Amino acid sequence: MISPLANKEVLLGVTGGIAAYKSAEVVRLFREKGASVTVVMTESAARFVTPLTFSALSGRPARTNLFDGYDAAISHIELSAKADIFVVAPATANLIGKAASGIADDLLSTTLLAVKCPVLIAPAMNCRMYDSPAVKRNIETLRGFGYGFAGPDEGPMACGEYGWGRMSAPSAVAEAAEAMLAHAGQFAGKTVLVTAGPTLEDMDPVRFIGNRSSGRMGYAVAREAARRGARVVLVSGPVSLVPPAGVELVSVRSALEMEAAVNAAAKDADAVIMAAAVSDYRPETVSHTKIKKGADETTVRLVKNPDILAGLGKRKRPGQLLVGFAAETDDQEKNAKAKLKAKRLDLIAANPVGGETGFGGDLNRLRLYGRAGHLLDTGVVTKAEAARALLDVIFDAMQGLSLK
Ligand SMILES: Cc1cc2nc3c(=O)[nH]c(=O)nc-3n(C[C@H](O)[C@H](O)[C@H](O)COP(=O)(O)O)c2cc1C
Repeated sequence: MISPLANKEVLLGVTGGIAAYKSAEVVRLFREKGASVTVVMTESAARFVTPLTFSALSGRPARTNLFDGYDAAISHIELSAKADIFVVAPATANLIGKAASGIADDLLSTTLLAVKCPVLIAPAMNCRMYDSPAVKRNIETLRGFGYGFAGPDEGPMACGEYGWGRMSAPSAVAEAAEAMLAHAGQFAGKTVLVTAGPTLEDMDPVRFIGNRSSGRMGYAVAREAARRGARVVLVSGPVSLVPPAGVELVSVRSALEMEAAVNAAAKDADAVIMAAAVSDYRPETVSHTKIKKGADETTVRLVKNPDILAGLGKRKRPGQLLVGFAAETDDQEKNAKAKLKAKRLDLIAANPVGGETGFGGDLNRLRLYGRAGHLLDTGVVTKAEAARALLDVIFDAMQGLSLK
């Protein structure tokens, strides 16, 4: 099979970490798969592996300086315009921080700011650095920009510690680059509507009924759909996440607001993916002033919220694909299949809530069911990986392949 990397222009950024030696193998793999590779190194990277190594392996001069040879050689603007994919492996905490802040103070970071192509980052650093709030925030910001990530992996570190932060194996970096290129443009011309997060049902100006949905799963789906070329409308309940780049964000609070936004956007959506955790009930009345503490016991009367998904199922246009999520603590398969049938869905993603997966965290496990039964079990994976698996299935379904 021809690799998606064949005949592609790859920019490989190498930064200053111990794992820089692994990038030599990344260059070799890219070339073996038919890509042309230009290596851009930071000054620190050149302390770990010489530019000569990368020049010899890539067959092109490895570039390190923004200013040297500016007139004669290819500038950062030309480099960025020609690239089909920009892979940074290894990516230091420093480079990740600079990219998240838009800092452009050397050839690599300046070129990164100028590219329009898909960007893949392979972080590599000590586990305590990787665990730092700054690095976590910066990675989240880059995910929001639509950057892809390969790794990092868990394992022993060069410094003797053990944990998360090792650069992924060169073969995994190459595979991630292939996947990004293969999927780019897959959903071009399609509109995908995604819902995410909780809905909050107000009782008074300071209190509400909500749920623990963080919005991470829906945001990962929206990000992946946008990355694959879809026009994405993301209807989101209140969350503290950076909206993915390029999506049309519609912020809502309550189930009623979400219903109105979803119904408006669903009219021209080719696929609707309902990952939001919509509150089933809302307080019957909302007090405009803060409810005062009084009796030892009190009662809040709840009324049912509209079933947004069922409403969409009833009005579904021919060719429109409707995907629901079923967050379940028990009887997952039975409940998910019943929901799929009752709401006239094409696909349902059942995910267990509790333990290491589901609400809040970064991991999830999706069991996908179509009308004819079980389609796929992702196992416990990151929400980004779960989103990729889900969109692979949705893409097949939109191609007219049956959802078996
Ligand atoms: C021996 C050694 C190993 C290092 N390994 C890493 C690493 O794996 N990841 C990282 O983020 N920084 C690492 N650093 C620190 C970076 O080299 C430093 O932050 C530098 O400013 C990064 O520059 P750059 O991002 O421009 O390449 C290491 C430093 C030394 C001296």
